[in-house]
Amino acid sequence: MCGIVGYVGSREATEVLIEGLKRLEYRGYDSAGVAVLNGSGVQVRKAVGRLSELEKTLSSNGVHGGVGIGHTRWATHGVPNEVNSHPHVSFDGKLSIIHNGIIENYRELKNELLEQGVAFKSDTDTEVVAHLLAKAYDGDLLKAVQNVLKRLRGAYAIAVCHADQPDRIVATRMGSPLVIGLGEGENFLASDVPALLKYTRKIIYLEEGWLAELTTCGVRIFDADMKPVEAAVSETSLTLDAAEKEGYEHFMLKEIHEQPRALAETIRGRIEGERVDIGELQLDPEMLRGVNRIAVLACGTSLYSGMVGKYLLERFTRIPTETWSASEFRYADPVIDPGMLVIAVSQSGETADTLEALRIVKAGGARTIAVCNVMGSSIPRHCDATLYTRAGPEIGVASTKAYTTQLAGFVLLAAGIGRTLGRVDSAEEAKLVQGLRDLPGQVKSLLDEDIVAVKRCAKRYKDVFNFMYIGRHFNYPTALEGALKLKEISYIHAEGYAGGEMKHGPLALVEGTFPTIAIAPEGKTREKLISNVQEIKARKGVVVMVSTHGDEEARELADYLIEIPACQEELSPILAVVPLQLLAYYTATQLGRDVDKPRNLAKSVTVE
Ligand code: F6R
Repeated sequence: MCGIVGYVGSREATEVLIEGLKRLEYRGYDSAGVAVLNGSGVQVRKAVGRLSELEKTLSSNGVHGGVGIGHTRWATHGVPNEVNSHPHVSFDGKLSIIHNGIIENYRELKNELLEQGVAFKSDTDTEVVAHLLAKAYDGDLLKAVQNVLKRLRGAYAIAVCHADQPDRIVATRMGSPLVIGLGEGENFLASDVPALLKYTRKIIYLEEGWLAELTTCGVRIFDADMKPVEAAVSETSLTLDAAEKEGYEHFMLKEIHEQPRALAETIRGRIEGERVDIGELQLDPEMLRGVNRIAVLACGTSLYSGMVGKYLLERFTRIPTETWSASEFRYADPVIDPGMLVIAVSQSGETADTLEALRIVKAGGARTIAVCNVMGSSIPRHCDATLYTRAGPEIGVASTKAYTTQLAGFVLLAAGIGRTLGRVDSAEEAKLVQGLRDLPGQVKSLLDEDIVAVKRCAKRYKDVFNFMYIGRHFNYPTALEGALKLKEISYIHAEGYAGGEMKHGPLALVEGTFPTIAIAPEGKTREKLISNVQEIKARKGVVVMVSTHGDEEARELADYLIEIPACQEELSPILAVVPLQLLAYYTATQLGRDVDKPRNLAKSVTVE
């Protein structure tokens, strides 16, 4: 949450900062600001609302200079107003700071500063750090940052500049992401690589606790004890196109339509002939034989993919598997033992709760695998092995291609581990591999097909206040994910239930015009779900059914029918969720919602 950018060089800093912040706006969009140094002190400009507001401010009241820092905010401490937006400036007016994260002990630090007579302007935790740094500064910004870090608890990525050292920016991170970009006579920093792609492909991923000092002459990196570090420089393969809308009205729609390609990428090189091949993970067969239990840890949409993952892992490996919301796990006093294999699932690789849950299981001796989309992000760096989903940058706040590629990743993992353990027979594996091969084409045909039914449905029900989604077994998580997609971008209340739970309470909601989305593709629970639909129809409820092509019973029962291609039951969540993504999208656009930036949310939840 929050995006930060920094620049030192000979360009106009504000241009680089605004370009970078545009690519980071998905991380927060309550307010934005920049601070620029030009030899005559710190010049700060801020604006409430989207980045476009800051651009307006800068066009009427510009600042010039070659060193600057910029921030786009997702409010944690203090309402989104100009005073609370970053950058914050120290009491002496000389030091400026941007921060992504939360300083957990800010209250005690603030009290201490108040007692010393420091006056605060904002309600933020960040302002505390600005004043502490100004007090610690004795002509060496790097040293001041190093000293103040010792006093901070929480998660942060910070960048600081000082009017008396106008040629540099000092940055550091702990628990929040930060990358450094290297140029010729210019250097950059940002929360995420796409912010830098216009200028450089040479990236340093800063490790936790490291400090970086950026000047036009280069970047010096130090560990927490101030020992110089030779950090590895990576050449990113991300392209600017991947972070553009490419003619689509919204990133979300683009990303829904990218799913065939993304899925093809996920399985590329991981199926060979009639076999699944996840050799790249170098999972030791001995280690796998010692696994007595698997735990999948994740949040939000990634958690729902983990719920499908549980069914797949149990189906193909026969190892008991549990799925945990990472935010619950970390406070549940969980039982951890070295026979436990943990799979952490995350699009961003930076979700604070998942990262912390991971630290807990590692300390308990568990083995860890990441299923992740973002190369070099924190979660993979903390795991023993990673299955990258290769979906490409996901910018829309509502996750789509990251979800379906995580599902494909779980199919590969489950079948791969199952085969190593001798628990998947070759005919079964061959069938699954063929199913995986067919998937990109099937998703493409689903997207190419007339989606009139989805659009009609969105138009008809956009004004209802409640929706229910039901599914069973592999598609129970599909119901949860469908409901989440609808509520997060359309703001319509929606709940997902396991079909078998209907009689235990939710059925009471059903009456004429109350819409239920029933996900009932071919598979062993289809008939059971059809019975649930009959019960809803008997109570005059309205039912939208997602069913396999040619299901005549569904056609007779449904008020609206959305058909998906025939596939193996294990793969059906990947196909069934696509029309639900589109239903959420078209409902939200018809309601005039800001689809890519829904209210109150941000893409990467890097604070607890
Ligand atoms: C919903 C959504 C979120 C994320 C969740 C975890 O559309 O995107 O629920 O799935 O915040 O994020 P990652 O996967 O980055 O750990």
